[in-house]
Amino acid sequence: MTRYSRISGTGSYLPPRRLTNAELAAELATKGVETSDEWIVERTGIRARHFAAPDVCSSDLALEAAKNALDAAGLQASDIDLIIVATSTPDMVFPSVACILQNKLGIAGCPAFDVQAVCSGFIYALTLADAMIKTGSATKALVIGSEVFSRILDFSDRTTCVLFGDGAGAVVLEASDTPGILASDLHADGKHVGILCVPGHVSGGQVLGDPLLKMDGQAVFKLAVGMLESTARAALAKANLTDADVDWMIPHQANIRIMQSTAKKLKMPLEKLIVTVDQHGNTSAASIPLALDVSVRSGKVKKGDTLMLEGVGGGFTWGAVLLKY
Ligand code: ACO
Repeated sequence: MTRYSRISGTGSYLPPRRLTNAELAAELATKGVETSDEWIVERTGIRARHFAAPDVCSSDLALEAAKNALDAAGLQASDIDLIIVATSTPDMVFPSVACILQNKLGIAGCPAFDVQAVCSGFIYALTLADAMIKTGSATKALVIGSEVFSRILDFSDRTTCVLFGDGAGAVVLEASDTPGILASDLHADGKHVGILCVPGHVSGGQVLGDPLLKMDGQAVFKLAVGMLESTARAALAKANLTDADVDWMIPHQANIRIMQSTAKKLKMPLEKLIVTVDQHGNTSAASIPLALDVSVRSGKVKKGDTLMLEGVGGGFTWGAVLLKY
């Protein structure tokens, strides 16, 4: 019998501190940085974001999201035999957030590792977990995107600091005799490193270079739409499906204009677009599983629906996962 993988539970977690655009603008104004709710909403669709408290790390957010996903799947942490965390904001240089999370979940022994593909991280992680389940290396995987992007924002740079937020989203992916994940498509092109990066690194006990996010927003915008369109088409072709077969599109939640432009290029009605960027900002690797969990819990996404998850981010990396929920 063919072995497939299928999502059996979703979960998410947002740190309690929520800042509206007006609240963020007021805070930035005290530092001489000028922005407004109108500018942020018009250019990005973002209205609010959550920021974690200074002592809260990616593994803490991941833990809450993981517990919610395990509950939804009706499983205990001890049932899990694989943990993959997608993050660009790990608790420490090493070990991985996945290992720290495994310990916080009170389990030991199963493989646990991080994936670093920035905003495409969850798509990469889900594809890996699917492959490991299909080849029999795992049966019940926790796949998580978790980020504290507030730690790497330059709050004197209004072109970037208004865009991002913190949060985590998780799924339990289980071996199944019915499909689940129908197709995946992953890509990277390292020549675009410079347009979206955090160029600092640790050396000899010091941080060398600038450890804060740098972005050429217009260059990112132009690349992102084309990549999201082509990877969605590739995933559909691999599964022998067309855009009309997709019930919900859950793209990386970076900017409403990128999401709407991609949907238009794919001739996907805007009603099929799941949007949480307005309430979460861009939570990088967490944005897709967060949006998935919100739409499952609100009753929009139902069992049996066909979902197109797709992401694009620093690297550049991009990719899509087409699945039956
Ligand atoms: N508040 C007020 N004014 C601002 C702000 C702000 N927060 N930021 C920039 N401006 C000003 C600029 O200084 C500029 O002023 P000027 O004309 O006097 O020089 C003006 O607004 C226009 O700036 P642009 O950079 O041209 O604005 P643009 O329309 O390109 O919007 C944005 C910028 C929102 C970053 C856009 O380029 C974008 O969405 N790019 C995609 C980037 C993205 O979403 N990245 C997410 C990470 S990547 C990923 O996840 C895939």
